[in-house]
Amino acid sequence: MSPSISQFAQSLSVETAFTVLAMAKSLKARGKDVVELEIGDSPFESTASAKQVGIEAITNNESHYCPSPGLPAFREAAAKFVRDEFNIPAEASNIVVAPGAKVFEQYFCEAFLDPNDGVLVFSPYFPTYKPNIERRGARMVLAPLTQSNDFRPEVSQIKEFLETDPQPKAIFLNSPHNPTGGVTTEDDLKQIADLLRGKNIAIFSDEPYCHMVWRGSHHSIAAQPGMLPQTVAAYTFSKSYSMSGWRLGFAVASNEVADYIGKMINTSLSCTPPLVQLAGKAALERDKAERDSVMQKFREKVVLLTEGLNKIEGFNALDPLATFYVFPNVMEVCNKFNITSHGLALYLLEGADDNFGVACLGGECFGNAGAGFIRFSCAEPNERLTQALEFIATAIGREDRIAAYLESHPQHHLKSPYVMK
Ligand SMILES: Cc1ncc(COP(=O)(O)O)c(C=O)c1O
Repeated sequence: MSPSISQFAQSLSVETAFTVLAMAKSLKARGKDVVELEIGDSPFESTASAKQVGIEAITNNESHYCPSPGLPAFREAAAKFVRDEFNIPAEASNIVVAPGAKVFEQYFCEAFLDPNDGVLVFSPYFPTYKPNIERRGARMVLAPLTQSNDFRPEVSQIKEFLETDPQPKAIFLNSPHNPTGGVTTEDDLKQIADLLRGKNIAIFSDEPYCHMVWRGSHHSIAAQPGMLPQTVAAYTFSKSYSMSGWRLGFAVASNEVADYIGKMINTSLSCTPPLVQLAGKAALERDKAERDSVMQKFREKVVLLTEGLNKIEGFNALDPLATFYVFPNVMEVCNKFNITSHGLALYLLEGADDNFGVACLGGECFGNAGAGFIRFSCAEPNERLTQALEFIATAIGREDRIAAYLESHPQHHLKSPYVMK
C-alpha cells in the first residue's frame, strides 16, 4: 500500500488557466486553429537588455548560489525602482527576490498566518490565494467586487470584516486587478490605510500589473504613510518586461519581514538564479522606454478587444482601466442558453467549430463572484484578436451547436439564471 496523501494535498485547487492552456495545446496538436486568450502571458519578447545581460551572465559564469534574499545589487536596483516609480520608502534591506510574484503569496501566509486566522479576499480573486491561505490552516473570507462599482473594494467591506470576523489577521489587495481589470484608486488606498494603520492586520498587496494602468498612474498601499511595516507588496517581471519564463519577482516589506522571508527562501529555494537577477536588474535600469512602448501596445489590444466584445449582443465589458484582461458580463447569453459562463468559454474552445476555437476562462474560475463573466487576455497578435471577435459573434449564433455541447457536457448546465449585481 502506498502512503496516504495529506488532506492539504488533496484539497489543492489550482489556476484553471493552466488547465485550459493544456486543453488548447492538445487541440492545436490535433490540428485545430485556436486563438489563445486563456493565459495572462505576453506575446512580446523579453526586453532587450534583459536578454543581452542574461546571455552575458551565463558566459561570465554567474551560475552559482547567491544570498537567499537576493543579490545586493539587485536589491539596490529594485529599491530605487519602487522609490522612483511608486514613492515607496524602500531601501535594499526591504527587498527580497524570488522566482516570480506568486510564491510571495505563500511566504506572506507563512510569515503572518496561524491556524483559524481570517483573511479577507475580494472576489473574484487570483486562484492561488486560497491554497496558500489554507496551507497555514487559515480561513479565506470573501467579499464581492461588483461591476456596478467598477470592481473596486469598499472600505465598508473591510470594516465589516474587522468587526465581525472572530480572528481577523490579513487582507489581500490586488490592484490593478486580475481578472476584472479594476483599479483601487489612490483615494481608496488612503481610506483603507487610515482604517488599517497600526492594527494587527497584515496586507498582501499583489501588484503584477503596475505598469498596465490605462488612466492615471499606479499607486501602492505600501506608499501610504506608515504602511510599509504591515505590508508585503509583490512585483513581477512577467508582465512589464515579458519575462514570465525567466521566473523573477520581488517583494517590498519591512526589514524584519524581509529577513523572515529570506529565511523561507533559504529553507526552500536557497536563492533565485543570479543570472536571472542580473537580467532583471538590467531591465529595471535600461528598458523603461521599451517597457512603456510595449505597454502602449497592450493598451491598444485591450481597447480593440473591449470595443469588439461590446459590439456582440449580450456582452457588456467596462471601459478598460488597467491590465491586459477584458472581463465582459455575459449573463444575458448564459441565461438565454442555460449555460454557465465557464461552459460558454469552453464551448468557444471545443464545441463551436471543428476547425477553429477561442480559449478563454469563465469568471467562476476566479471564485463564485466571477460567475456570469468571461475573462479574455490579450496574449495574441491584433489580427488574431480580430479573428477571435468575429468567431465569437458567429459562435453564439450557432444555437444547435450550443445545445449539442450542453448535451455532451451536462456539467455546464446553468441551474438558475444569473442575476446582475
Ligand atoms: C494577480 C496575480 N498575482 C500573481 C501572478 C503571478 O505572477 P508571476 O509570473 O510573477 O508568478 C499573476 C500572474 O498572472 C497574477 O495575475
